[in-house]
Amino acid sequence: MRTIRTVAELRAALAPERRRARTIGLVPTMGDLHEGHLSLIRAARADCDVVVVSLFVNPSQFGAGEDLDAYPRDERRDRELATAEGVDVLFAPAPAEVYPDGFATTVSVSGLTEVLCGDAERRGPGHFEGVTTVVAKLLNMAQPDVAYFGQKDAQQALVIRRLVRDLDIPVQISVLPTVREPDGLALSSRNAYLDPGERDRATALHSALAAAEAAVAGGELAAADVLAAARTELEAAGIEPEYLELRSTVDLAPAERVNGTTLLAVAARVGRARLIDNTVLTSKGDR
Ligand code: PAJ
Repeated sequence: MRTIRTVAELRAALAPERRRARTIGLVPTMGDLHEGHLSLIRAARADCDVVVVSLFVNPSQFGAGEDLDAYPRDERRDRELATAEGVDVLFAPAPAEVYPDGFATTVSVSGLTEVLCGDAERRGPGHFEGVTTVVAKLLNMAQPDVAYFGQKDAQQALVIRRLVRDLDIPVQISVLPTVREPDGLALSSRNAYLDPGERDRATALHSALAAAEAAVAGGELAAADVLAAARTELEAAGIEPEYLELRSTVDLAPAERVNGTTLLAVAARVGRARLIDNTVLTSKGDR
């Protein structure tokens, strides 16, 4: 596996592959690789001839007071894991390579980015502007045939699909299921911030989603009932969610009922960690 630091070197490495009609898969990450990331890398390895993993802790998607400095970084370990998965190129640019002096362009997707994790009173749309700007750049840098994202960040995946569609970026977006710990906690780099007691309480996010799924399976479709089932689990663990909402999986419009496929998304602070999780609920007639 090659580690590449500059856009020029990345282009030079990939151009001959593209000329030989070899397909390129890109897995964008902020490093600290875990099984969630590895599931994306394995899918890319299975689908594509050349696998590029980008490792860049993107400053522009962290709000003031968020965990940019504390964000776990261990490139050596990431390099070993990527090598073991058969990754061809680890693209690990420095911030100045991605945002050189005079950088002045922002890519933003409206609407979808103003709710849930983009709500003005929470992280604000600036978070998603940071994500869409860096993802647009990474897609232009690597020009992959397929780029891989996790359903764990359901809103991010939707926003990126919209970005690619709206800007006619010639890439296929593949979104893969959330990888979880045996007790249901979704894998996240931010789980490292949890102490043992918080780690136990954090499983309530998954229990809340499971309770909502059970309610829907039992025929409850009204948002108030489904959300109440979920909220009970959070309360039992002493967790006050930042949001717990039912929304359309198409445009994130609020959903009054589980209707076809409906996203149930939750975010909560547990200790120092801000955790998110979600599930797609399906009403019976659609199964
Ligand atoms: P990061 O949090 O490192 O996540 C990289 C990718 O891994 C994202 O697509 C995310 O959805 C996916 N992922 C994380 N945890 C997962 C899990 N438990 N199961 C499945 N997939 C999981 O998301 C980002 O980085 C950044 O915003 C990025 C897209 C790289 C832009 O900076």
